[in-house]
Amino acid sequence: MLQQTNRDKSKSGSNLILTSNGISVAYNDYGDGAIPIIFIHGFPFNKNMWQPQVEELCKSHRVIAYDIRGYGSTSASTEEFSIALFADDLIHLMDILMIDKAVICGLSIGGYVALNAMQRYNNRFAGLILCDTQCSADTTEAKEKRYNSIKDIELNGTSGFIDGMIKNLFSESTYTNNPALVEEVRSMMFSSSPESIIKTLKALAERWEACSSLQEITVPNLIICGKEDKITQSEKAEYMKQHIKGSELAIIEKAGHLSTLEQTAEVNGHINRFIASINK
Ligand code: MLT
Repeated sequence: MLQQTNRDKSKSGSNLILTSNGISVAYNDYGDGAIPIIFIHGFPFNKNMWQPQVEELCKSHRVIAYDIRGYGSTSASTEEFSIALFADDLIHLMDILMIDKAVICGLSIGGYVALNAMQRYNNRFAGLILCDTQCSADTTEAKEKRYNSIKDIELNGTSGFIDGMIKNLFSESTYTNNPALVEEVRSMMFSSSPESIIKTLKALAERWEACSSLQEITVPNLIICGKEDKITQSEKAEYMKQHIKGSELAIIEKAGHLSTLEQTAEVNGHINRFIASINK
């Protein structure tokens, strides 16, 4: 097993690049601490969505946020995407960074990736934070919707898909009081390539369920969900809470699917407290 080493401090900062699992991976690596926290972003975003968490948590922990395959400044490769491949990428990244165990925090697809990695590499986890995500696979109807979106993107580009998704991402309060955030997220989505969006939609449609293995999770677990999340609703979070032994659930008021960006102070408070309880 890999040993956690004192890392080279000159290798901390943003937009660092390394080669891992056959792709060039961009990541931010800040702070110091016994157990690193690794953030996996949602779809179709990039590592910048974790900026509020990175800024706060790096004061007392080592925090790493990376761009998943095909997003931000990470290359895509010619391979088809799958949630299992994204999970393999996470483990390869940890290997190259000589990280034996980490607290893995994923939002939405980032949570699907974390749960997939937990099923196959549970000894690499010191803790698990699941934000606005679920353990189930797509229903037939959801799959059909993904494949219709692919057809639409192939014909017309990503605008229709992004505009449709933007309408479901935030709470009422965010749309009214924080239009700057809505615009920032919209431009992050538009910076993602149509090819990667198409490949990810297929990966999402074909993903395995992870609900049947929730009872095997033995590391500390925190579940966070925006009360107004329309994509991965709070019932999905409640289900995971009921099936992961000893897990904690925080439902965030005035937040939708991007609770980490909509209510940063409250979410950071939950994450800080959770990490402190693991480090005890
Ligand atoms: C995400 O935010 O990663 C996606 O909404 C996940 C999904 O569509 O299932």
